Amino acid sequence: MTERLRLGVNIDHVATLRNARGGALPDPVRAARVAQAVGADGITAHLREDRRHIRDADIAAIMEAITIPLNFEMAATDEMQGIALAHGPHAACIVPERREERTTEGGLEVAGDQDRLARFIGPLSDAGMRVSLFIAADPAQIAAAARIGAPVVELHTGAYCDHHAEGDTQARDAELARLIDGAKRAADLGLEVHMGHGLTYDSVAPIAALPEVAELNIGHFLMGEALFVGLAGAIAEMRRAMDAARG
Ligand code: PXP
Repeated sequence: MTERLRLGVNIDHVATLRNARGGALPDPVRAARVAQAVGADGITAHLREDRRHIRDADIAAIMEAITIPLNFEMAATDEMQGIALAHGPHAACIVPERREERTTEGGLEVAGDQDRLARFIGPLSDAGMRVSLFIAADPAQIAAAARIGAPVVELHTGAYCDHHAEGDTQARDAELARLIDGAKRAADLGLEVHMGHGLTYDSVAPIAALPEVAELNIGHFLMGEALFVGLAGAIAEMRRAMDAARG
Protein backbone atom coordinates (compact mmCIF):
# COMPACT_ATOMS: atom_id res chain seq x y z
CA MET A 1 0.00 0.00 0.00
CA THR A 2 1.40 3.39 -0.94
CA GLU A 3 1.22 6.28 1.50
CA ARG A 4 -1.95 8.37 1.70
CA LEU A 5 -3.81 8.33 -1.61
CA ARG A 6 -3.41 11.76 -3.18
CA LEU A 7 -6.31 13.68 -4.70
CA GLY A 8 -5.59 15.95 -7.64
CA VAL A 9 -8.50 18.27 -8.37
CA ASN A 10 -8.98 19.08 -12.03
CA ILE A 11 -10.32 22.62 -12.39
CA ASP A 12 -10.77 22.69 -16.19
CA HIS A 13 -14.52 22.99 -16.03
CA VAL A 14 -14.48 26.12 -13.92
CA ALA A 15 -12.83 27.61 -16.99
CA THR A 16 -15.44 25.96 -19.25
CA LEU A 17 -18.14 27.87 -17.39
CA ARG A 18 -16.14 31.09 -17.48
CA ASN A 19 -15.57 30.80 -21.21
CA ALA A 20 -19.25 30.13 -21.88
CA ARG A 21 -19.93 33.79 -21.08
CA GLY A 22 -16.58 35.39 -21.78
CA GLY A 23 -15.22 37.58 -18.99
CA ALA A 24 -13.37 36.39 -15.93
CA LEU A 25 -15.94 34.52 -13.81
CA PRO A 26 -15.99 31.95 -12.37
CA ASP A 27 -12.27 32.18 -11.77
CA PRO A 28 -10.33 28.88 -11.98
CA VAL A 29 -7.65 30.39 -9.75
CA ARG A 30 -10.19 30.81 -6.99
CA ALA A 31 -11.21 27.18 -7.45
CA ALA A 32 -7.57 26.14 -7.13
CA ARG A 33 -7.28 28.10 -3.88
CA VAL A 34 -10.45 26.53 -2.48
CA ALA A 35 -9.25 23.05 -3.44
CA GLN A 36 -5.93 23.66 -1.73
CA ALA A 37 -7.63 25.02 1.39
CA VAL A 38 -9.84 21.96 1.73
CA GLY A 39 -6.96 19.51 1.41
CA ALA A 40 -6.44 18.72 -2.28
CA ASP A 41 -2.96 17.33 -2.79
CA GLY A 42 -2.57 18.89 -6.22
CA ILE A 43 -4.31 20.87 -8.93
CA THR A 44 -4.67 19.47 -12.43
CA ALA A 45 -5.30 21.65 -15.48
CA HIS A 46 -5.36 20.70 -19.15
CA LEU A 47 -4.34 23.35 -21.65
CA ARG A 48 -5.95 22.03 -24.81
CA GLU A 49 -4.85 22.93 -28.28
CA ASP A 50 -8.15 24.79 -28.85
CA ARG A 51 -8.06 26.50 -25.40
CA ARG A 52 -11.68 25.50 -24.83
CA HIS A 53 -11.29 25.71 -21.06
CA ILE A 54 -7.91 26.52 -19.47
CA ARG A 55 -6.04 29.30 -21.27
CA ASP A 56 -2.38 30.16 -21.35
CA ALA A 57 -2.61 32.95 -18.77
CA ASP A 58 -4.39 30.60 -16.32
CA ILE A 59 -1.32 28.42 -15.98
CA ALA A 60 0.93 31.11 -14.54
CA ALA A 61 -1.92 32.49 -12.42
CA ILE A 62 -2.68 29.08 -10.91
CA MET A 63 0.98 28.37 -10.19
CA GLU A 64 1.32 31.76 -8.55
CA ALA A 65 -1.73 31.18 -6.35
CA ILE A 66 -1.03 27.71 -4.94
CA THR A 67 1.68 25.96 -2.97
CA ILE A 68 0.52 22.43 -3.81
CA PRO A 69 1.79 20.87 -7.06
CA LEU A 70 0.33 21.67 -10.46
CA ASN A 71 -0.15 18.68 -12.74
CA PHE A 72 -0.12 20.15 -16.23
CA GLU A 73 -2.04 18.01 -18.72
CA MET A 74 -0.81 18.41 -22.25
CA ALA A 75 -0.75 16.85 -25.68
CA ALA A 76 2.59 15.66 -27.05
CA THR A 77 3.11 18.66 -29.30
CA ASP A 78 6.00 21.05 -29.67
CA GLU A 79 3.77 23.95 -28.66
CA MET A 80 2.77 22.32 -25.37
CA GLN A 81 6.31 21.18 -24.65
CA GLY A 82 7.47 24.78 -25.00
CA ILE A 83 4.74 26.01 -22.64
CA ALA A 84 5.54 23.31 -20.07
CA LEU A 85 9.24 24.15 -20.18
CA ALA A 86 8.49 27.86 -19.83
CA HIS A 87 6.38 27.34 -16.70
CA GLY A 88 8.06 24.33 -15.06
CA PRO A 89 5.03 22.80 -13.31
CA HIS A 90 5.62 20.02 -10.80
CA ALA A 91 4.19 17.41 -13.16
CA ALA A 92 3.36 16.95 -16.82
CA CYS A 93 0.73 14.42 -17.79
CA ILE A 94 0.82 13.55 -21.49
CA VAL A 95 -2.65 12.92 -22.89
CA PRO A 96 -3.97 12.13 -26.35
CA GLU A 97 -5.95 14.97 -27.86
CA ARG A 98 -8.32 15.15 -30.76
CA ARG A 99 -9.95 18.46 -31.45
CA GLU A 100 -13.43 17.02 -32.04
CA GLU A 101 -13.61 14.97 -28.84
CA ARG A 102 -15.66 16.26 -25.93
CA THR A 103 -13.20 14.99 -23.36
CA THR A 104 -10.05 12.88 -23.41
CA GLU A 105 -11.24 9.66 -25.01
CA GLY A 106 -9.05 6.61 -24.78
CA GLY A 107 -5.46 6.52 -23.72
CA LEU A 108 -2.23 7.66 -25.28
CA GLU A 109 -0.74 5.35 -27.93
CA VAL A 110 2.68 4.76 -26.42
CA ALA A 111 3.58 1.36 -27.86
CA GLY A 112 3.19 2.51 -31.45
CA ASP A 113 4.96 5.84 -30.94
CA GLN A 114 7.71 5.03 -28.47
CA ASP A 115 10.68 6.67 -30.11
CA ARG A 116 8.94 9.99 -30.62
CA LEU A 117 7.46 9.95 -27.10
CA ALA A 118 10.80 9.04 -25.53
CA ARG A 119 12.36 12.05 -27.25
CA PHE A 120 9.38 14.18 -26.30
CA ILE A 121 9.39 13.48 -22.56
CA GLY A 122 13.19 13.68 -22.20
CA PRO A 123 13.38 17.50 -21.93
CA LEU A 124 10.42 17.58 -19.53
CA SER A 125 12.09 15.09 -17.20
CA ASP A 126 15.42 16.86 -17.56
CA ALA A 127 13.70 20.07 -16.47
CA GLY A 128 12.57 18.32 -13.28
CA MET A 129 8.94 17.58 -14.14
CA ARG A 130 7.38 14.32 -13.03
CA VAL A 131 6.13 12.95 -16.32
CA SER A 132 3.08 10.72 -16.45
CA LEU A 133 1.44 9.07 -19.44
CA PHE A 134 -2.35 8.77 -19.56
CA ILE A 135 -2.94 5.31 -20.96
CA ALA A 136 -5.46 2.50 -21.08
CA ALA A 137 -4.82 -0.37 -18.67
CA ASP A 138 -3.34 -2.33 -21.54
CA PRO A 139 -0.25 -4.49 -20.90
CA ALA A 140 1.42 -3.35 -24.14
CA GLN A 141 0.97 0.34 -23.29
CA ILE A 142 2.16 -0.14 -19.72
CA ALA A 143 5.28 -2.00 -20.85
CA ALA A 144 5.99 0.70 -23.44
CA ALA A 145 5.63 3.45 -20.81
CA ALA A 146 8.23 1.71 -18.67
CA ARG A 147 10.52 1.20 -21.67
CA ILE A 148 10.60 4.88 -22.56
CA GLY A 149 11.42 5.86 -18.99
CA ALA A 150 8.19 7.53 -17.85
CA PRO A 151 8.14 7.33 -14.04
CA VAL A 152 4.33 7.46 -13.77
CA VAL A 153 1.31 6.11 -15.65
CA GLU A 154 -2.23 7.34 -15.17
CA LEU A 155 -4.67 4.58 -16.06
CA HIS A 156 -7.89 5.69 -17.77
CA THR A 157 -10.94 4.87 -15.67
CA GLY A 158 -13.46 6.27 -18.18
CA ALA A 159 -14.82 2.95 -19.47
CA TYR A 160 -15.13 1.56 -15.94
CA CYS A 161 -17.07 4.68 -14.87
CA ASP A 162 -19.31 4.60 -17.96
CA HIS A 163 -20.30 0.98 -17.34
CA HIS A 164 -20.82 1.76 -13.67
CA ALA A 165 -23.17 4.63 -14.54
CA GLU A 166 -25.07 2.47 -17.05
CA GLY A 167 -25.55 -0.26 -14.45
CA ASP A 168 -23.80 -2.81 -16.66
CA THR A 169 -22.16 -4.68 -13.81
CA GLN A 170 -20.58 -7.35 -15.99
CA ALA A 171 -18.81 -4.84 -18.23
CA ARG A 172 -17.92 -2.69 -15.21
CA ASP A 173 -16.33 -5.62 -13.40
CA ALA A 174 -14.39 -6.60 -16.53
CA GLU A 175 -12.99 -3.06 -16.75
CA LEU A 176 -12.20 -3.06 -13.06
CA ALA A 177 -10.33 -6.33 -13.49
CA ARG A 178 -8.29 -4.73 -16.30
CA LEU A 179 -7.46 -1.77 -14.05
CA ILE A 180 -6.45 -4.05 -11.17
CA ASP A 181 -4.21 -6.07 -13.47
CA GLY A 182 -2.82 -2.89 -15.03
CA ALA A 183 -2.02 -1.37 -11.66
CA LYS A 184 -0.15 -4.52 -10.61
CA ARG A 185 1.80 -4.73 -13.88
CA ALA A 186 2.77 -1.08 -13.73
CA ALA A 187 3.86 -1.29 -10.10
CA ASP A 188 5.89 -4.44 -10.85
CA LEU A 189 7.70 -2.47 -13.55
CA GLY A 190 8.55 0.22 -11.00
CA LEU A 191 6.01 2.76 -12.25
CA GLU A 192 4.00 5.00 -9.95
CA VAL A 193 0.31 4.41 -10.65
CA HIS A 194 -2.33 7.11 -10.91
CA MET A 195 -5.91 6.77 -12.13
CA GLY A 196 -8.61 9.11 -13.30
CA HIS A 197 -11.44 10.09 -15.59
CA GLY A 198 -15.13 10.03 -14.83
CA LEU A 199 -14.83 9.14 -11.14
CA THR A 200 -17.75 9.94 -8.83
CA TYR A 201 -18.59 9.29 -5.17
CA ASP A 202 -20.29 6.07 -6.33
CA SER A 203 -17.54 4.71 -8.52
CA VAL A 204 -14.43 5.80 -6.63
CA ALA A 205 -14.28 3.17 -3.86
CA PRO A 206 -12.95 0.11 -5.77
CA ILE A 207 -10.36 2.33 -7.45
CA ALA A 208 -9.28 4.09 -4.27
CA ALA A 209 -8.92 0.72 -2.56
CA LEU A 210 -6.24 -0.50 -4.97
CA PRO A 211 -3.00 -0.57 -2.98
CA GLU A 212 -0.79 0.34 -5.97
CA VAL A 213 -2.66 3.56 -6.73
CA ALA A 214 -0.92 6.69 -5.43
CA GLU A 215 -3.06 9.45 -6.92
CA LEU A 216 -6.51 10.06 -8.37
CA ASN A 217 -7.28 13.02 -10.64
CA ILE A 218 -10.92 14.05 -10.54
CA GLY A 219 -12.65 17.03 -12.10
CA HIS A 220 -15.96 17.02 -13.93
CA PHE A 221 -18.02 15.29 -11.25
CA LEU A 222 -16.62 17.53 -8.51
CA MET A 223 -17.49 20.68 -10.45
CA GLY A 224 -21.04 19.47 -11.08
CA GLU A 225 -21.47 18.51 -7.44
CA ALA A 226 -20.10 21.90 -6.42
CA LEU A 227 -23.23 23.50 -7.90
CA PHE A 228 -25.26 21.82 -5.20
CA VAL A 229 -22.97 21.57 -2.18
CA GLY A 230 -20.17 24.00 -2.95
CA LEU A 231 -16.68 23.12 -4.15
CA ALA A 232 -15.19 22.72 -0.69
CA GLY A 233 -17.99 20.35 0.35
CA ALA A 234 -17.69 18.29 -2.83
CA ILE A 235 -13.93 17.86 -2.47
CA ALA A 236 -14.24 17.04 1.22
CA GLU A 237 -16.83 14.36 0.50
CA MET A 238 -14.64 12.83 -2.23
CA ARG A 239 -11.72 12.84 0.18
CA ARG A 240 -13.90 11.07 2.76
CA ALA A 241 -15.01 8.45 0.21
CA MET A 242 -11.40 7.83 -0.84
CA ASP A 243 -10.19 7.51 2.74
CA ALA A 244 -13.06 5.18 3.65
CA ALA A 245 -12.23 2.92 0.70
CA ARG A 246 -8.55 2.98 1.54
CA GLY A 247 -9.10 2.28 5.20
N1 PXP B 1 -7.03 12.50 -15.75
C1 PXP B 1 -6.82 12.88 -17.02
C2 PXP B 1 -5.52 12.52 -17.64
C3 PXP B 1 -7.78 13.61 -17.73
O1 PXP B 1 -7.55 13.97 -19.01
C4 PXP B 1 -8.97 13.98 -17.08
C5 PXP B 1 -9.99 14.79 -17.80
O2 PXP B 1 -9.47 16.00 -18.16
C6 PXP B 1 -9.14 13.59 -15.76
C7 PXP B 1 -8.16 12.83 -15.11
C8 PXP B 1 -10.34 13.98 -14.96
O3 PXP B 1 -11.49 13.43 -15.52
P1 PXP B 1 -12.89 13.92 -14.99
O4 PXP B 1 -12.98 15.38 -15.30
O5 PXP B 1 -13.85 13.09 -15.78
O6 PXP B 1 -12.93 13.65 -13.52
